[in-house]
This record gives sequence, C-alpha cells and structure tokens, in this order.
Amino acid sequence: MCGIIGYNGKENAIPIVIDGLKNLEYRGYDSSGIAYFHNDKIKIIKEKGRISELEKILDDDKSTLCIGHTRWATHGKPSRVNSHPHASGEITIVHNGIIENYASLKEDLISKGYKFLSETDTEVAAAMIDYLYKEEKNKLKVLEKLEDVLRGSYALLILFRDDKDTIYALRKGSPLIVAKSKTGNLVASDIPAILDYTKDYYLLDEGEIAIIGKKDIKFYREEKEIKKELLTFKFDIGSAKKEGYKHFMLKEIYEQPKVIKNYLEHYLNNMDLIPDLSLYEKIHIVACGSAYHAGLIGNYLFSEYGDIEASCFVASEYRYKKNFINDKTLVILISQSGETADTIASLRLAKESGAKTLGIVNVVGSTIARESDEVIYINAGCEIAVATTKAYTLQVLTLSLCAYKLGLIKGKIDKQLEKELKVSYKNLPKEIEEILKLDYKKYATKIAKSKNVFFIGRLLDYYICEEGSLKLKEISYIHSETYPAGELKHGTISLIEKNTPVIAVITDKKIAEKTISNIKETRARGAYTLVLKQKDIEISHDIYDDVIEIEELSDLVSSILTIVPLQMLAYYVADSLGYDIDKPRNLAKSVTVE
Ligand code: F6R
Repeated sequence: MCGIIGYNGKENAIPIVIDGLKNLEYRGYDSSGIAYFHNDKIKIIKEKGRISELEKILDDDKSTLCIGHTRWATHGKPSRVNSHPHASGEITIVHNGIIENYASLKEDLISKGYKFLSETDTEVAAAMIDYLYKEEKNKLKVLEKLEDVLRGSYALLILFRDDKDTIYALRKGSPLIVAKSKTGNLVASDIPAILDYTKDYYLLDEGEIAIIGKKDIKFYREEKEIKKELLTFKFDIGSAKKEGYKHFMLKEIYEQPKVIKNYLEHYLNNMDLIPDLSLYEKIHIVACGSAYHAGLIGNYLFSEYGDIEASCFVASEYRYKKNFINDKTLVILISQSGETADTIASLRLAKESGAKTLGIVNVVGSTIARESDEVIYINAGCEIAVATTKAYTLQVLTLSLCAYKLGLIKGKIDKQLEKELKVSYKNLPKEIEEILKLDYKKYATKIAKSKNVFFIGRLLDYYICEEGSLKLKEISYIHSETYPAGELKHGTISLIEKNTPVIAVITDKKIAEKTISNIKETRARGAYTLVLKQKDIEISHDIYDDVIEIEELSDLVSSILTIVPLQMLAYYVADSLGYDIDKPRNLAKSVTVE
C-alpha cells in the first residue's frame, strides 16, 4: 500500500521519479507527490488523484535528487494536504505503512511547539525526526533511535535540508529495495519502479538503514556499516508492461497458460522442490483475500488426497485466536506480495509457537519468503492488476502439487491415477487457452445490469465461487454473494427476484444432482441462471438461461480451469461499465496495513 521511490544521481531525477510512480501506481492511487532539492531548498509538489493530476502541476525544474510517493489513504481522506511528501522543520519524508502511536506522539510534539497541517501519521513522523535531529544532531543516531520511538510499520525516505546530496532510507515492517543504475542510485518500495533502469538491487532488511549518495550506497545496522548481497530480478522486464492489452488484468488472465506451463515444467520435473507434507500431523493454511480462497481449495485437496487434518484460516483472524499448534504442525502462508501485514503476523505467531512454516509466495525476497522456514515461489512474474488472477491460479496449482505429492507418499494415488493426473496437469495450459477463446461479453452485458449477483456451488465449486464473486465485486462494484448451493434456501433465497443473476458452478459429478436441484429452486423464483459446468455433466435445458462448458479434468486441477471463465466474466462486466479495472476504487495491491 502506497508506493515510494527516490533517485539520486547524475540525471534529472524528476522524470525518473514520475515514471517510477507510474509503475507503482497499482500500490495506491488516491494522491501523489514529489520532493526535490531546488536552489538549495526542498520543493514539494503534490496533488490529489492520479499521477496524471500531479504531472499537470509540475514545473520545468531540474534536480538530480528527488523522492516521490503514491498514496493509499489510511490517516485522513485523499486530499492535497494529506498527500506525501510531508515536511516539518529540517525534515521532508515519504512513508509507507502506519505509525500506530502517532496520536500520543502528536500530542507530545504539539506540547513542544510543533504545528500540523494534515491529519496524517506521516507528518507526525517527520516532526518527530526533526525533533530528534535538533536534539541529537547525528543523522545516523537519529534514524537508529526511530525504532524505539515509532510503533507500527514503516518504510521511510528522508531528506534533511542540510544535506542536499543524500537520501536516507529505513524500513520496519514495510519493504524497501535499493538499486544502482548506470547514472545513479534508486530506492523504491517495489521492483517495478526500478525495472526501466536496472535489474540489480539490494533488499533492505528489518531495522536496516541505507544512506544513498550520488555514487555510493552505504548500509547500516545498529550504527555499524554492513555489506549486503546484490540480487538480480530474473523475470522479463516486459512482464511489468501492458504489451498491447487494454488492461493489465486482461493481460495477466491471458498469461495464465504460459506461466502455468512453465511452472509445471519446472516443478513437475523437480518434485523434490515440493515439500513432504506427510511429516506433519496437521496443516494450517493461512492467507487473506484471494490467497485465502486458494487456501480453501488446498485445504480440501489435502484432506482428500493426503488424509491429513487440514484447516484454512483468514490471517486477520488466525493471528488473534488460539490455534493449538506445535512442532508437528505445518503452517502454510500464501501470499502473492509476501508483504501482507496480517499474513506476516500469522507467520511470526506460528514460528513462536514452534510450528514449521511454508511460504507460497510470488515476490522474490519478500518478507514472507524470507522469514518462512521453507518457500515455494509460484513464479507468476510481475502481477500489476490489483485484482489477482495468474498469481491466484498458481497458488492453487502449488497446493495441488503439494496434495499430489502427499497422495503419492501416502499411497492414496496409485500408478493408474498418477498417470491420469499427469495427463490432467499436462493438458491444463491447453484447456485454459481453449476456454479463453469463448465470448464472455454476451453474458457480461446481462450481468452488468444487475445490482446483486449470487454464486453457488458445492465444495470445490463453492470455493471457486468465492473467488469468482470477489473478482466481480472488486472491479465491477456489483454486490455479489457466494453460498454453498445447499445453503441458499436457509434464508438468502428471499433475495432472489425476477432476473437476479445466479451463477452456478458444477464440476463434481458426485454432487452435481444436488446443485442442479438448487439451481432449479432459484430459477423457479425468476433468477437468470448461468451455469458453468464440466462437459460430461448432463443437465437439462430448463435449468439454465446460459451455459459455459469446460473440459473434464481431475479435481486436483479442475479448479484452475474453472476460475478462468469467472475471471473473464468479471473483467468484461467491469469493462462494459467503463471502470478503471486495474485500479479499482478503495483498493491497493499489497495490503501492508492491518
Ligand atoms: C483480490 C486480491 C486480494 C489479495 C489479498 C492478499 O483480487 O488480490 O484479495 O489476494 O489482499 O494479498 P497477498 O496475496 O499479496 O497476500
């Protein structure tokens, strides 16, 4: 949440920072701003709205040092005054994260004579740094001290008015990377911001400070200089660009056959990279949002194929409850970004309780990847659209491979089944390509007119419905609810009116008849029914208005195919309504606040 970037070097830093902000806009887009040295003074320009609004008010100034920020509001509504950078006395900062004790610090600083213009916690942090600097005079010591003073999570870029050649950066709980390009040094909250200039970067660790000069970068921990390893970003730079698609979301949906194929080639041929889950007595899967929906599927597959006690939890709940875990428990943390605050907290809690932890992560070197005992990278490449698609399917695929390996070890998958499953995995990318060829617009226009949509399914189909419904809600702003198909009649069916869309998923032959009965119940009350089903499941024409058919695949794999039409449907509904699909209102890509 919030994107930050800084450049210090030989070039004009302002366009570099503006470009970087555009590449980070998916992290937050309520408002943006920059600060740079101009005639030995720090000049701040900021504006509410998208970065294009900021560009309209830029001067022709040039500066070789600049920091910038794109905001996802936490403290105070989106407005120019609440936008970053914030300045106080000698100090100007941009900030990602939340300062939890800002209210008491603010009171204290007001009593010391500080005045505040904004409602933000960030302005309080700026004033606090200014206060400490006036007391202490030593910049490094002041920054080291911050860890004791500021509670919460933060990544900060700091400019001191008396040092026009340096950006100071530090992190606690929010990611920051530092990079060297041919013309200077960069610092950012996320890789896409720097990819136009370099692929090599340093990852700032918890409690570390970077002092970024025009040539040199120095790293410190506990006031001692430290050496850090230079890392290389391995994915295509192209993967952070739209490449002709109208939206990143559409591009990422279409990328799925390719990333899944690459993933399977890598992991199916190297099954030793998939951990042996049979070593544990029980498994907890912990995640948020779509990653949690992926976890629901994994949870089901682990029980079915691995005969193991598995449970799936929303991270923001898990971290506050008794979990009864010990060293025989494996806690699996699923996260695209690897930086989701509640998932990180759950990971730390699991480790403290003695459990083993496995991270299923996309962003290389992210906090969850680094702090988990083991990590499986899903290798989705950059996912820019706020609504996740390819990362979600790869999360499900990873859990599927874990269940597959568990089934082999536990003898639940015999030779014959193993052969069939391999065929299912192999066919998956091709089947996704086929399903992508269908025309979704014709269904989308019917759904786009509605105020409420219902998704129903049983077991795996229900978990898929949860994800399909979230996709629709987050980008089309149409209210939708998901129910286990048998549950609707216990209350919610009262909401079904003439033409209310009911999207029903049926891929499990064993329980298809039951779901079919539930579809009939909604149709009898006037619902428009769109059925998404496997080809081999027979249904009569009088239960649906429209039908989308997908190939029959093993249940270890089928969910990955089933979600694709629902992703496409959500996309085309939102597109037909003219919404900004990659940047839905109120959302941000990486949820680094609790
Ligand atoms: C929805 C979506 C979110 C994320 C959730 C977890 O499309 O993207 O629900 O799945 O915020 O994020 P990560 O996976 O980064 O932990």
